[in-house]
Amino acid sequence: MTEKVYVIHENEEWTVHLFRRLEELGVPYEDWFTDAGSVDLTNEPPQGVFYNRMSASSHTRGHRFAPEMAEAKIAWLERHNRRVVNGSRALRLEVSKVNQYMALDAAGIRTPKTVAVSGKEQLLAAASAFEGESFITKHNRAGKGLGVRLFHSLEALEEYVGGGEFDESVDGITLLQQYIQAPEPFITRCEFVGGKFLYAVQVDTSEGFELCPADACRLEDISCPADGASETRPKFQIIEGFDDPIIAKYERFLEENGIEVAGIEFIQNADGELFTYDVNTNTNYNADAEAESGTYGMLELAKYLENQRQNLATFAK
Ligand SMILES: Nc1ncnc2c1ncn2[C@@H]1O[C@H](COP(=O)(O)OP(=O)(O)O)[C@@H](O)[C@H]1O
Ligand SMILES: [Mg+2]
Repeated sequence: MTEKVYVIHENEEWTVHLFRRLEELGVPYEDWFTDAGSVDLTNEPPQGVFYNRMSASSHTRGHRFAPEMAEAKIAWLERHNRRVVNGSRALRLEVSKVNQYMALDAAGIRTPKTVAVSGKEQLLAAASAFEGESFITKHNRAGKGLGVRLFHSLEALEEYVGGGEFDESVDGITLLQQYIQAPEPFITRCEFVGGKFLYAVQVDTSEGFELCPADACRLEDISCPADGASETRPKFQIIEGFDDPIIAKYERFLEENGIEVAGIEFIQNADGELFTYDVNTNTNYNADAEAESGTYGMLELAKYLENQRQNLATFAK
């Protein structure tokens, strides 16, 4: 069969791992690096499986309009009923935490109390909703912990917003959010491929908020002056036999939103209450953690994409 797997993305550091797995399995694929470029809407797309792996943090790699261009390509593909893995709905959620939280809420999944704000003055006014509580700021379109800061008072926020360090979200929307204090400094990220739970990874947060459970980010950490104590304990650890009722809820949420590949993050407070705060429409590739447990997200993804490609052929007959 001549149909290929097409990968829409803007991050070569990530796709290199997927391409290696696709090559291992002998899957024909094409790299659809998406940033500046064009799509002729009067043409027909090729036959194949299209995997959208666009990232909310693309602007941090100099690809400011990559998500917009990906949306254009996906609109064109969907118009022609092509098989898109993580299609337009997944992309809408990827680039907006507000969309994520509303969809999670609709699926009966608890999220932290959040106020979405555009405008500096409005930010200060809206923060009164958190009077007497600790809260954080974060970008609506983020990834990599962009704009995540912890505040214990409205005055501290005022100082930050008025000072030179204030870092606005690329879409202009800052989120004010209830700070969930975890008794132990870690969060949990659940990985899904084909809409099914694959594994959960525990991520050590004792060094701060910029958390991406990927090797690329681990490299950045190495140059971080705060680093040092972490060498004895790995930052990312796959939790063997993770089994929690939240998994079934996440799987239903993913199905309702047409998301097939995802990493969903939650944090638990001292009472054991679970708050879901981030949906990433991609999967993990932390080599050390995966080697330790013998589970490989990228391999599972490559197999899944190949499976979808084989299904195309059956469908076409
Ligand atoms: N409400 C919260 N309470 C406590 N910590 C949080 C909260 N939201 C985010 N964090 C911390 O900040 C990190 C980054 O936030 P997240 O929402 O995942 O943004 P991003 O999309 O940039 O990854 C999280 O992994 C977690 O450690
Ligand atoms: Mg996150």
